[in-house]
Amino acid sequence: MNIFKFENDEDFVQTGANLVASLLQSNPKAVLGLATGSTPIGVYERLVQMYRKGLVSFAKASSYNLDEYVGLSADHPKSYRSFMNKHLFDHIDIDLSRTHVPDGNAKDLTAECLAYDQRLENEGPVDLQILGIGSNGHIGFNEPDASLTSGTHVVDLLPETREANARFFPSVTDVPMQAITMGVGSILKAQQILLLVRGAEKAEAIRKAVKGPITTQCPASLLQSHPNVMVLLDEGAGQWLK
Ligand code: F6R
Repeated sequence: MNIFKFENDEDFVQTGANLVASLLQSNPKAVLGLATGSTPIGVYERLVQMYRKGLVSFAKASSYNLDEYVGLSADHPKSYRSFMNKHLFDHIDIDLSRTHVPDGNAKDLTAECLAYDQRLENEGPVDLQILGIGSNGHIGFNEPDASLTSGTHVVDLLPETREANARFFPSVTDVPMQAITMGVGSILKAQQILLLVRGAEKAEAIRKAVKGPITTQCPASLLQSHPNVMVLLDEGAGQWLK
């Protein structure tokens, strides 16, 4: 793993955005794996700025998001599809028909998961997968457990994850109980992984992920088995790293 710690936010977001932009410059048809949550917002904002300056185009790219809440329609303001539209897709030249987010409102969730994996299989692999990490070590919504699922699946969100995400909802009781998530196997198929980590509350999780044993109790630790992972840390998240 290549681990970088940044003293200032400017360098953190620019480094993340540059990695995406240089991929698109060398491969305009790149398949991007995208994450939601607070952490990647700065990188998405920077990519929008770079697009407006003519430094990057998404016109031929496609994207696959990691996850979506079960029970929220795509147009629900708190859905991850709405998040992506608001923070990235509405402001760049990507063809919306080539952006993919699991349908959390599908009647048959099992069929939706299988179809998502099939599309990934046909159009993948993902060239660059952007990830955040939960304070409990989750990636996507692959929660710590005795075993992990490889492909896209429905997951029960742990109480700590619903608590952490309550800030996006009126109250914790409004946070959906379940989500569809790409599995760890699907995530690890990406050619390159960019893990973005911010804040002291993530320090222990990322320390365990990169220095601890590979264990399903810290799903992010499985990234140690991937040959091409870049980890960007801010001061808080990287306080344990000299
Ligand atoms: C989001 C996702 C999650 C988040 C993680 C960190 O699509 O897959 O794994 O990356 O929960 O979230 P933030 O960045 O909000 O702390």
